[in-house]
Amino acid sequence: MTNKIIVAIDGYSSCGKSTMAKALAQHAGYTYVDTGAMYRAIALYTLRHELAEPAAVIAALPQIEVGFVRINDEQHVTLNGEDVEGQIRTLQVGNRASEVSQIKEVRAFLVAQQQKMGEAKGIVMDGRDIGTVVFPNAELKLFLTASPEVRAERRYKELVDKGEHPDFETVLKDVNERDYRDTHRAESPLRQAPDAIVVDNSNMTKYEQMEVIYGYFDRFQ
Ligand code: DC
Repeated sequence: MTNKIIVAIDGYSSCGKSTMAKALAQHAGYTYVDTGAMYRAIALYTLRHELAEPAAVIAALPQIEVGFVRINDEQHVTLNGEDVEGQIRTLQVGNRASEVSQIKEVRAFLVAQQQKMGEAKGIVMDGRDIGTVVFPNAELKLFLTASPEVRAERRYKELVDKGEHPDFETVLKDVNERDYRDTHRAESPLRQAPDAIVVDNSNMTKYEQMEVIYGYFDRFQ
């Protein structure tokens, strides 16, 4: 048995982080953790309870439990025990997640849980601050990127596949706004760790990316 490592995958929204992280976790036989889903679960809670102000969100944290369950070999995020996977992938929840993720206390709350999940290593975690804050000592750090237009195109297709009727310009605007918020917030802004490997997948197929990423991982085996 080879030594297990921690793989941190960071990058902009809709750049295929989750797809790659999931595929790599399967390739490696590791646990996959989608930290964006954790921020989205908190966002859903604040929408349901109409908590607009940061102080109200912070006060509610002791009542919020975020977890994961495996259903049909898929990882679903839970909010106080309820499987909310089907409700967190909307533009509205995504935008709210980007807002609540700016609150220092929300980040500390989730980062502590994420660090616990990585204690035994053998984990692939994706998000915005995994290689910089959650696991600054991760053995392998990948930073995925793609042009805003390519990412908006992907997000647009995902939403159409889900039965939504998005407007492309709105989706693109949303991608740009979210990038701005994620990279300019005071708390743990999205940035590339100095020791992260950058993978720009604007012109790569999913399989080309998998080959590149598995190659980096396999160096540790
Ligand atoms: O990856 P995603 O689109 O599901 O993430 C939703 C939002 O959560 C995103 O706008 C930024 C935030 N997020 C974060 O701040 N830190 C993370 N580790 C993961 C997500």
